[in-house]
Amino acid sequence: MIDLKLNIDGVINSVTNNEIGLFENETSFHFKSIREKSGKGKELLGWVTLPRDTSHDLLNNITKDAEKLTGNSEVIVVAGIGGSYLGARAVIEALGNSFHLNTGHKNRPDVVYAGHNLSEDYLSELMLWLDDKEYSIVVISKSGTTTETAIVFRLLKDHIEKKYGKQKAKERIVAITDARKGSLRKLAETEGYTTYTIPGDIGGRYSVLTPVGLFPIATAGYDIKQIIEGASNMQDFLFNTNNLFENPAFLYAAVRNILYNKGKGVEIMAYYLPNLFFLAEWWKQLFGESEGKENKGILPMSVNFTTDLHSLGQYIQQGKKIIFETVLSIEKNKKQVKIPRSADDSDGLSYIAGKNIGFVNSMAEKATTLAHIEGGVPVIKISVSQLNEKNIGELLYFFQMSCAVSGYILNVNPFDQPGVEAYKKNMFALLGKPGYQDHARKIKNKLK
Ligand code: PA5
Repeated sequence: MIDLKLNIDGVINSVTNNEIGLFENETSFHFKSIREKSGKGKELLGWVTLPRDTSHDLLNNITKDAEKLTGNSEVIVVAGIGGSYLGARAVIEALGNSFHLNTGHKNRPDVVYAGHNLSEDYLSELMLWLDDKEYSIVVISKSGTTTETAIVFRLLKDHIEKKYGKQKAKERIVAITDARKGSLRKLAETEGYTTYTIPGDIGGRYSVLTPVGLFPIATAGYDIKQIIEGASNMQDFLFNTNNLFENPAFLYAAVRNILYNKGKGVEIMAYYLPNLFFLAEWWKQLFGESEGKENKGILPMSVNFTTDLHSLGQYIQQGKKIIFETVLSIEKNKKQVKIPRSADDSDGLSYIAGKNIGFVNSMAEKATTLAHIEGGVPVIKISVSQLNEKNIGELLYFFQMSCAVSGYILNVNPFDQPGVEAYKKNMFALLGKPGYQDHARKIKNKLK
């Protein structure tokens, strides 16, 4: 059985069961083409059976090498961007402690990130901070040629080699990249780093359950076997549940497309625990990069409630009716804090004294959901009983499958990202990269 539940009661004013039922054949058809690898982007469907295909040997090796790295480090720097960054951070922060650089365990290294921006200040501050820390690096790039990651790794490699000497530095670097292609693979082999492979048939945003996500997550001390176990359970469940109304991935894909066709072009993921911020970022990349093409696609946004109820809440409630909401709901908190009883009621809170903060938060969630539905914002609810490795594994695989089916319903290739190249081409031209001279001439005139 799976823990995840999908509840679509909150779309009842906008979507009928008949309308959903019309997607029965279509979702089955798309799922068949995903399983049989016959649809658009079929060369990038390795993630579909990945959870069940993942060997214990791989998980044991990752855990062992991660332990080796963390044994002599106060800090692990994870260098990567996009699909080579967001999944690991999503899981580490969801499971982590808000005040311990996002790893949940006191005696483990802090995990910090680089390569996901080109801020000179950020990188200068990072290296200054690392000057007096014992640290190791996990560098992740499927292509092995991404500019942000390559620049940051050049900086960090230089820093770590100066700090420990070339020989010792090598033992503190793990590279995760393609089996054969790319500069990072070449460099890792020349230098003799420990390496892990990103399977060629899995694209960046579908790679969190490969070493791309699993290795950093293991350095933060989380049980990667449980993550794979949860994802495998979800894989089995989705594979064996043909009924659209019982298959949460099919149902979510169908409902979001019905809403999209009715003018709801923006989906906001709402969550009520701030440590879900990066899970929503990962979800935004997954759906945004998979569906936003050919002048189509739902715009995925996210809101951190109750914080954003005091900023975007007004727009959601009464602004343009282009939004539907997907609440990521966690039923049970990791920790409990009660509101203290007090003889003095000058703050007016005695009516909830003795109640848990989690109870108040859950009432905020119920109240907001109701207000939004009544304000014309359909609400889909995705819930898990608690945040643990197994449930996160379920969530990750569920969203990946939903996204693939949803992209096929939209009739796009959910596994490519041709639009990402446009900025890169301009940037390379402006930076004077060899081979981009003609393009540089063209855009320099436009920029005058
Ligand atoms: O989803 C994707 O494919 C992208 O977001 C990539 O993950 C991102 O551009 C980083 O690419 P790479 O892993 O090749 O460095």
